[in-house]
Amino acid sequence: MEIIRARDYDELCEHAATMIIAQVQQNRHSVLGLATGATPTGIYQKMIADHRKHGTSYAGVRTFNLDEYVGLAPEHPSSFAYYMRKHLFAHLDISPEQTHIPSGVATNLQVECQQYEDAIASTGGIDLQILGIGINGHIGFNEPGTSFQSATHVVTLTESTKEANRRYFTKEEEMPTHAITMGLATIMQSKKIILLVSGKHKAPVLHRLLNEPMSEDLPASILKQHSHVTIIADEEAWNL
Ligand code: F6R
Repeated sequence: MEIIRARDYDELCEHAATMIIAQVQQNRHSVLGLATGATPTGIYQKMIADHRKHGTSYAGVRTFNLDEYVGLAPEHPSSFAYYMRKHLFAHLDISPEQTHIPSGVATNLQVECQQYEDAIASTGGIDLQILGIGINGHIGFNEPGTSFQSATHVVTLTESTKEANRRYFTKEEEMPTHAITMGLATIMQSKKIILLVSGKHKAPVLHRLLNEPMSEDLPASILKQHSHVTIIADEEAWNL
């Protein structure tokens, strides 16, 4: 694992955006794996700024997001589909058909999961996957205890994850209880992975990740087995 120690959040975003832009410039048909949440927003802003200033084109790029809440339609302001349009897709030259997010309102969620796996496989796989990390070590919505062999599946969100995400919902009762997520095996099939760790609330989990052995109790620890992972962590995330 390569580890980049960024001075602050802005530098973390600069490093990550530079890597993503380089990927897209090297291969205009790149397949990107994308994440939502607080951490990637600054990266997306830098990608948009670069697209406007230098014209990096996403016309041939395909994207697959990690996850979506069950029960939220893409128009719901707290859905990850809405987040992606707002923070990235609406500002790039990428057509909606090239952007993929699991449907949280599919009539058959098991079929949706399988189709999502098939759609990723049909592209030849994800070239570069962006990941955040939960304070409990989750990646995507793969909560502690998730099998390292897991493919895209439906999960029950833990209390810790619901707590961390409640701020994105106007009413507490709107907080979904389930989500669809790429599995840990799905994530591991990506050719390159960038794991982002920002903020002092992430310091304990970064410390665990770097010091504990691989275990399903710490889902992100599976990344130790991947040959091409870059962890970018800002200074606050190093300060236990
Ligand atoms: C988001 C996702 C999650 C987040 C993680 C960190 O699509 O899959 O694993 O990356 O919960 O979230 P933030 O960045 O809000 O701390």
